[in-house]
Amino acid sequence: MIDYSNVHSVALLGWNMTSTPMNVLNDDSIPAFEAALQRAYSDPTVKGIVITSAKNEFIAGADLKMILRNNDKNPAEMLKVSAELNRIFRGIETCGKPVVAAINGTALGGGYEACLGCHHRIALDSPKAVIGLPEVTLGLLPGGGGTQRLPRLLGLETALPLLLEGRRVSPKEALALGMIDELVTSREELLEKALAWIEANPSPLQPWDERDPKTGQIVGKENVRPPGGAVQSPTGARVFGAGTAMVMEKTRGNYPAPIAILSCVYEGLQVNIDRGLVIEGRYFVQVATSKAAKGLIQTMFLGLNEANKGVSRPKHIPPTDVKKLGILGAGMMGAGIAYVAAGAGIPVVLKDVSVEAAGKGKDYARAVLEKAIERGKGTPEKAEATVRLITPSAELADLQDCDLIIEAVFENRALKAQVTREAEPKLAENGIFASNTSTLPISGLAMASARPDHFIGLHFFSPVDKMQLVEVIRGRQTSDYALAVALDFVKKIRKTPIVVNDSRGFFTSRVFTTYTAEGMELLTEGVNPVLIENAGKNAGMPVGPLAVSDEVSLELIYKIADQSLQDGALTEGDTAYQVAKKLVERGRLGKKAKAGFYDYPANESKYLWPGLHDLFPPTDRQPSLEELKNRLLYRQVMETVRCFEEGVIRSQLDADLGSILAWGFPTYTGGALSFVDYVGITNFVREADRLADAYGERFRPTQRLRAMAERGENHFKHSLHS
Ligand code: NAI
Repeated sequence: MIDYSNVHSVALLGWNMTSTPMNVLNDDSIPAFEAALQRAYSDPTVKGIVITSAKNEFIAGADLKMILRNNDKNPAEMLKVSAELNRIFRGIETCGKPVVAAINGTALGGGYEACLGCHHRIALDSPKAVIGLPEVTLGLLPGGGGTQRLPRLLGLETALPLLLEGRRVSPKEALALGMIDELVTSREELLEKALAWIEANPSPLQPWDERDPKTGQIVGKENVRPPGGAVQSPTGARVFGAGTAMVMEKTRGNYPAPIAILSCVYEGLQVNIDRGLVIEGRYFVQVATSKAAKGLIQTMFLGLNEANKGVSRPKHIPPTDVKKLGILGAGMMGAGIAYVAAGAGIPVVLKDVSVEAAGKGKDYARAVLEKAIERGKGTPEKAEATVRLITPSAELADLQDCDLIIEAVFENRALKAQVTREAEPKLAENGIFASNTSTLPISGLAMASARPDHFIGLHFFSPVDKMQLVEVIRGRQTSDYALAVALDFVKKIRKTPIVVNDSRGFFTSRVFTTYTAEGMELLTEGVNPVLIENAGKNAGMPVGPLAVSDEVSLELIYKIADQSLQDGALTEGDTAYQVAKKLVERGRLGKKAKAGFYDYPANESKYLWPGLHDLFPPTDRQPSLEELKNRLLYRQVMETVRCFEEGVIRSQLDADLGSILAWGFPTYTGGALSFVDYVGITNFVREADRLADAYGERFRPTQRLRAMAERGENHFKHSLHS
């Protein structure tokens, strides 16, 4: 697991785990690492130590499954892990021999904390490598000394943003920031430089340590003065003040990790490193056992990995590959899809009604790539090669032999049927046809197809280049084969899929609309719009329900509701329909028209439209923020539960990921189904019943949910997942 060799009296410790694809800190590797270190410490012929890895990555961090296992039941075990790491890393820097981290690839979390314990850090400049302490993005904090060593090494102003944002940086940037000391271009050079440094520094000291004049022992300095000033200095006060304000604005108290990180640094930098590490350990346990950490690790790390690997793919279908893609409609969505597909190396025929219209789609791809180059991403040559893969066209013949054709023409049933009939015969023998419709049921659209088993929904989100999710919709007749082709394609373009069954609004639009609809309910009840918007943001949604309605467009909301009315899926009295109608009739169509629930003056700012007070006069007594937050969240969760029970959504993971990635359901809850577990199923049912009694049956828990609560089940997978 840790290869041990002796090179010119230097012990070379090469991480080389076989039980996991990447080197991680876990129950097996931690003791093995410590044993290898002890061997080097106690060998009098060893004059220095180099820590490196035999794999492409250095160490990817702590094993998150280990953290999740202990999350809700075992705080003592959690403290043990942190104490163990601290003992080992502190051991490295006080062992009396020089220790160099030869960082040959990605070093994250605990992996980089090991490097911080070394006296010197040299990294290989590899394009794929990233370095950093991303714990905060998983609801955690660096529990292996990261919050203590990074600020002592870099100073508060540089270290705090790295800790609070969890940014992963390239080796080059790591050098510029001072996170590493040297950068090299080959593995040979990495070892050479490490050996040379050891030769030149026989008894190094960390900047936060000193030698006890009496005993000669290495101990932590009492008077901590990191670069840039101490915690209690005017600079420190300013940095902490700004940091706390920023954290509160961003997290609204929903995520405990960032504040805990600030506390670790503030308290830890007033004492020596040993006591600082104890402080960090205490905060680590607090956040590592929090519900937010559980949700984030479960859904946004382990779950996301599973989805990206293709858990939903029918296993019995051999791998497929889209070698030629056709897109119908070069508008906003078609152009975006062409851009991501070409970016993954797939030749694309982008067809519109004229070559000029199709060319605009290609221009869009070029513009996105140019912007990326301005931000330092990609090269002009690469961009040119990508753009060259897109062929604008107005000819059906150019679609010949496409493995997949995606239609993204106007949202119009008749037009979609027409383009399906025209283009389908051009498909390769086993090719499939997909619709990017956002609202029209897939099984209905498939009626225009001669091969409905080869017809599927691929619902992309706007802007396609930024939105990671693709909602894959299975129509009644969609075959496993078509699903496999669609999922292989989504994987190839590096997006994350969820698979849902056909239904009005599918999963994402159906549940997301309940958020905007509840905002509108509140408005009609006389709740102050400012309060409504704050409640949404405080609940952890990225934008308030009224602002997001403007972004979607009130006109579109009205049109869709009107269509549902005609289809008999909605009644005239529906609140969202009535509210949208009222606004649209007054010319307030949404953000694009610069007039919706908000006014949008030219300078990018927005203000709630004063006219709202006349249309929906606020009542004298206003509800509490907590009540509003619950209404906005519970409404979405109950709709998600119904989607699950109706079989629209097939797994807890799809529901959780879909809700987070499609419309920004708060990650600290783990997603729209995990929310039930987050508040506890008994509490959830009780509160949902209370809301239903007070505001309407839309909040009423289902019978199955009630039964689950009675049985004390807290997880959908075990009870409802088929
Ligand atoms: P858009 O209006 O920007 O583009 C539609 C394009 O289709 C236009 O360039 C038009 O010239 C072209 N077109 C019309 N008839 C055609 C034909 N017979 N053959 C080839 N091209 C034809 O529309 P957008 O926003 O790109 O939407 C396209 C589809 O994607 C719609 O079904 C929409 O519901 C769906 N969608 C839209 C999202 C959005 O945020 N805009 C999100 C997800 C799905």
